[in-house]
Amino acid sequence: MQTWEELEQLCRQCTRCPLHEGRTNTVFGVGNRHASILFVGEAPGEQEDLKGEPFVGRAGMLLDDFLTAVDLKREDVYIANILKCRPPKNRDPLPEEEACCIGYLRAQCALIRPKIIVALGRIAAMQIIRPDFRITQEHGQWFEKNGVLCTAVFHPAALLRDPRKKPDTLRDFKNIAAKAKELSL
Ligand code: URA
Repeated sequence: MQTWEELEQLCRQCTRCPLHEGRTNTVFGVGNRHASILFVGEAPGEQEDLKGEPFVGRAGMLLDDFLTAVDLKREDVYIANILKCRPPKNRDPLPEEEACCIGYLRAQCALIRPKIIVALGRIAAMQIIRPDFRITQEHGQWFEKNGVLCTAVFHPAALLRDPRKKPDTLRDFKNIAAKAKELSL
């Protein structure tokens, strides 16, 4: 198994798909490498590409609000994306980009060994939980994948577009925090 340093270096130098041509920075992931909870988003946006850190734009500020609301801090959890490089104009990831990149997330997961994985949005949920995952119907539900509890919440960017989804999302975050407590994480 790779060390964190080996993995991060490989990822930062990656040229496996054409997205590397347009990147300012790869966005590897941040947070606690021993976290019990791993949050997974879709792909870096403009601010993330500029800073090299996930969820630092408007959607990220909203994610922070939800973490704070359930007494979690960024430093308590680990945050990464399915894609480590920004797709042009923030378009949805292409299947071949996901196929090239998913190995990095798998390796991160093998190193962290989280007890809970939270997919942020439909795209992450389709990779992590099930290819036909339906975020509107299935957000907040629990699924077991290889001994890890997985769930999905609405993507923070979707909440910016439709704030009516916020109460459901707060409920989902409270459930996630309660589950972590129940498991003494
Ligand atoms: N949206 C994502 O899915 N990930 C980020 O890092 C930022 C915005």
